[in-house]
Amino acid sequence: MNGTAARTLTALEARWGRAGAVHFEERFGGLVAVLTTANANAVVALQGAQVLSFVPAGQDDVLWLSPAARLGTGRAVRGGVPICWPWFGAHPSDSSKPAHGLVRVRDWQVVGSASSVAHSRLVMAVAPAAGDGSLWPGGAWLQLEITLTDTLALALATENRGGDVLAITGALHTYLAVGDISNATIEGLSGRPYIDQLAAQVMHGDAAPVTITGEIDRIYQETADTVTVVDHARGRRVNIAKQGSRSTVVWNPWIEKNARLGDLGAEGYRRMVCVETANAGSDVVTLAAGARHRLFANISVEKIET
Ligand code: BG6
Repeated sequence: MNGTAARTLTALEARWGRAGAVHFEERFGGLVAVLTTANANAVVALQGAQVLSFVPAGQDDVLWLSPAARLGTGRAVRGGVPICWPWFGAHPSDSSKPAHGLVRVRDWQVVGSASSVAHSRLVMAVAPAAGDGSLWPGGAWLQLEITLTDTLALALATENRGGDVLAITGALHTYLAVGDISNATIEGLSGRPYIDQLAAQVMHGDAAPVTITGEIDRIYQETADTVTVVDHARGRRVNIAKQGSRSTVVWNPWIEKNARLGDLGAEGYRRMVCVETANAGSDVVTLAAGARHRLFANISVEKIET
């Protein structure tokens, strides 16, 4: 660690550290916060305010993280929960702009921490950088609150502090770990229409749970429902309850894209599926001056009783 990083770490610890609940370390070549409760722990990178790990007591990590994860490279780490904002996917009018928006590779600031017997909390914020110009929606203020109990709750708040109406999309781009993708199903999306991003057309979802047997890239629309990944190999159900979202993205790159992307590990696609609490597709959030939007997800795990 260089001298500057060491001083930042000391300052973070002094200002926001909380004994037994929130502390700061260097991992993956960058600074992270480690949140701890009696029932879980979580790791959050300051880069991107990206949660990298969520381990409830007695469980394997709920989040998948690339074996190549490295902070500070100017590229988003693949895994955990990258924050997509203020646009999801390609920029609506300029495809030369970075996919999934501006903030997933930015350094965020810690602006709050809290703890009690039951919870640990970290609050992070990011402001526009010099040169963002019109890319940063005028007057938009952004904050992420991460609350760990035996569940992981993420609340991404956008407030319009400018005078004009804002339109934003985004996602809590959650990479869930699965024991074996061929032995996992996704419940809670039955019968919903979805934009098939691979075919660029709108489809109508089946009544059956979603199974993954090839590349999948879907924006499910008109759904505020909890989604559950049933991971038979690990004997658990991972529930993602949400608010402020009427779209859910399901993504798995499968074999060829896994190889093309290069940062998933040899067989990463077998061990992960993205279920993203989103505002995407037709689910565009419009904020009048002074209005606030909260994109919220709560991730919990239950054992499958046998
Ligand atoms: C998903 C998108 O959310 O993210 C996919 O639906 C995209 O189209 C995937 O490929 C990964 O994006 P990135 O920019 O992190 O490689």
